[in-house]
Formats: sequence, C-alpha cells, structure tokens
Amino acid sequence: MASFKIAILISGRGSNMAALINAAKAEDYPVEVALVLSNREDAQGLEIARAANIPTQVIKHGDFDGREAFDAAMTEVLAAAGVRLICLAGFMRLLSPEFCQRWRDSLINIHPSLLPSFKGLNVHERMLEAGVRIGGCTVHYVRPEMDEGPILVQAAVPIASDDTPDTLAARILKQEHRIYPLAVRLIAEGRARPTGGMVTIDNFELPDSCLINPPL
Ligand code: GRF
Repeated sequence: MASFKIAILISGRGSNMAALINAAKAEDYPVEVALVLSNREDAQGLEIARAANIPTQVIKHGDFDGREAFDAAMTEVLAAAGVRLICLAGFMRLLSPEFCQRWRDSLINIHPSLLPSFKGLNVHERMLEAGVRIGGCTVHYVRPEMDEGPILVQAAVPIASDDTPDTLAARILKQEHRIYPLAVRLIAEGRARPTGGMVTIDNFELPDSCLINPPL
C-alpha cells in the first residue's frame, strides 16, 4: 500500500477527483487517496468516491459560525487522516489565511487557465471575450490570495473561434485530468519544491515542443 496519503476536497462534480482516484489505482503511482472531503452532501463526486471505496466525509460550511471555525473542523479531520497533501478539486469555498498557513506547501489547487492570467470565476467565458488563442490549466500551491501561489504544472490548450464556454471548458478539462495526477506524483516522489519564484522540479527533460494556434 502506498504511504503518501492525500485528501481531495470537492464541492461538486468531482471529475478531477476521479482522475486522481484512477491514477492512484496504478501500482506504480505512489499515492493513497485517504479521504474525500466535501462541504456539500449533494456533491456528485461523493458517489464516485464511495463507489471506489474511498473514505468520504461531509463537513457543511453552513453548520459553522464563520470561515475560521469551518476551516478548523476540516483541519482536525485532515490531520486525523494523516494526509500529507490536500488537493482542492472544484472546492468552492475560500480558505482562511490560518488554514493556508497550517497546510502551507501541502495544499494545492487546479485552475482552468494559464495562471496568473484569468484568475477567479467564469474563466472560459472571459478567455473567449478576450480573444486569446491559447488557454490552458494550472496546478499550483495555494496561498491565501485566490488563485495565487507557486506553479507546479501547466498545460496549454488551443482555442477555436467557434468555441463556446462549454466546448472550451471540456477541452481544458481533459488536460486537467492529466496534469493533476502528474503534479501530485511530483510532490509524492519528492521531486517538486516550492522555492521563491519558479517551483524546482527534479529529473525531467524540457519538452521540445510548442503549441502554435493556428498551426504553421
Ligand atoms: C475544474 O475546472 C477545476 O479546474 C476548477 O473547478 C472545476 C472542477 O471540476 N477549479 P470537477 O469537479 O473536478 O469536475
């Protein structure tokens, strides 16, 4: 059994969670998904996790008097589960500075843009409005400011002139499902370290490729 335990925090669909759970099924993937935690009992992802026999827990933010109390309850459960990394995967709550500090460098997020461009919500719509021809997704360490923090992995995705927010979201999501397991593996194997500026990643060859849209 892999010993590097992670928790995944969700609020909804849970497709990135499912990608991590699937990755962890491979024998050479050095991670155990020890807990899926949701702030909503109706999160679809909970069903997927239960079907995969992953322990789940619901902590409803509405049951707490403020963000700090809610975050403290999560910290208690996460610490008791012995997790070394927390993966936000469509977790729709802002986290308190205390929580971010408690789990600093053990807390990562996935966002459907090439950060630091297009932070926040309605990202796909805003990319189309801006007319950018390349979008993407980012896995990054979490800092208290929304969608900030050292970048672990990014994937670039071409944008078509007839894309809708939904078609673009689907194209980017496919790559999210590839880069989240990669980022978690890099951390679990001890190959990624947040220093100042760019995250240091050991033992890889810079890809000799480039996305041009439209192509040459
Ligand atoms: C993903 O697009 C992720 O990048 C963003 O929220 C969405 C969650 O989707 N943070 P899912 O719940 O993983 O399917």
